[in-house]
Amino acid sequence: MTDPRLDRRFPDAAAMEAAALRRMPGFVRDYVEGGIGPEDAAARNIAELRAVRLMPRYLVADSVPDTKVTVAGAVWSAPFAVAPLGLGGLIWPGCEPVIARATAAAGIGHVLSTYATTAMETIAPLAGPGGWFQLYPPADPGMEADMIARARAAGYPGIMVTVDIPGATRRRRDMRSGLVVPPRIGPRMLAEIAVRPAWAFGMAGRGIPDFENFSRYYPRGGGLDAAAEFLGRMMTGHITPDRLARIRAAWPGKLIVKGVLSVADADLALSLGADGIVVSNHGGRQLDAAPTAPQVLPGIRARLGEGALILADGGVRSGLDMARMVALGADAVLVGRPFLHAAAALGARGPGHLIAVLRAELETAMVQLGCARLTDLRGCFWRGEDG
Ligand SMILES: Cc1cc2nc3c(=O)[nH]c(=O)nc-3n(C[C@H](O)[C@H](O)[C@H](O)COP(=O)(O)O)c2cc1C
Repeated sequence: MTDPRLDRRFPDAAAMEAAALRRMPGFVRDYVEGGIGPEDAAARNIAELRAVRLMPRYLVADSVPDTKVTVAGAVWSAPFAVAPLGLGGLIWPGCEPVIARATAAAGIGHVLSTYATTAMETIAPLAGPGGWFQLYPPADPGMEADMIARARAAGYPGIMVTVDIPGATRRRRDMRSGLVVPPRIGPRMLAEIAVRPAWAFGMAGRGIPDFENFSRYYPRGGGLDAAAEFLGRMMTGHITPDRLARIRAAWPGKLIVKGVLSVADADLALSLGADGIVVSNHGGRQLDAAPTAPQVLPGIRARLGEGALILADGGVRSGLDMARMVALGADAVLVGRPFLHAAAALGARGPGHLIAVLRAELETAMVQLGCARLTDLRGCFWRGEDG
């Protein structure tokens, strides 16, 4: 159930996005919204998903839509999880624990980024059984082994290994705004912060957030420059099949590979022991020529078959968008930027409201389409032929 008072001001994710963009400092907005290069992929994610047509069936039996889905052995109340999002605490002060708690309360999934500003040990108990840890495998095998051991000790049932960051990227908005990792606040940023008081007050009590998942590995005493050099060295390089096999062997729980776009990578990931994949172009932030999930999902589902676990992301902004992704072949989706928008627009109430809105929209869409179960949505994808 959505809250009617919140619904009046924020009926959908778009309303939360509009409010969020007014409340974030410019360099934060650029980091969140930005894509790679001219940002075609980021725009196409939204446009191509929205162009997917679904054919309703009205002469069917009445039914209450069932939005539950089983993902790698866990039941989610609706087919979505929060995507891993780096730098959460810089985007909206204190948002990471709030988002994790909201997903646990709603019984949906949550994936904490390696680049989160809250430690995996802090988030695991808040996110509950739907909580996963996203791993960017570091170049140093010792550090990789330690992160895997920590994720296990923290109680995560699964890790999501992101494979689509083989090298440094050139995001022009971040280059212009001067955002670097770890963040350091320059004079231009201070000017942007000064006109965003809600963000500034939220940050004032907390201080500039750190990457709590790996700040312990930074070289001692070298300051921000040494930390930046260390990160540049650690977080690069392709995840070769050997590396993925090594991680698979070291991790006893479920493992999903994120950042798959080709049938060949999908096949390889599963043959190396992955329990599933996320079809994703990283929100259009890595390769501007990359295809979108709607373009490649049907082919990947056809190849892997109905038994394989396939998640997808990029441009999901409504429950109807979730229905579209499921119709194209996904079991469930990841939702990225909208959770940051919700936290920025509404503070602690935002993530819970967004979840309620997305779920209500999905149920509405399923009723309109005449689908009682999520799997029924597969039959609704309309390719343009008659009927
Ligand atoms: C601000 C931001 C930070 C992100 N950080 C990560 C990350 O740390 N790890 C990761 O695997 N993906 C990361 N992503 C990609 C998301 O997990 C997801 O694939 C993408 O945002 C989905 O698109 P959407 O934002 O349109 O929903 C990030 C995306 C954004 C917008």
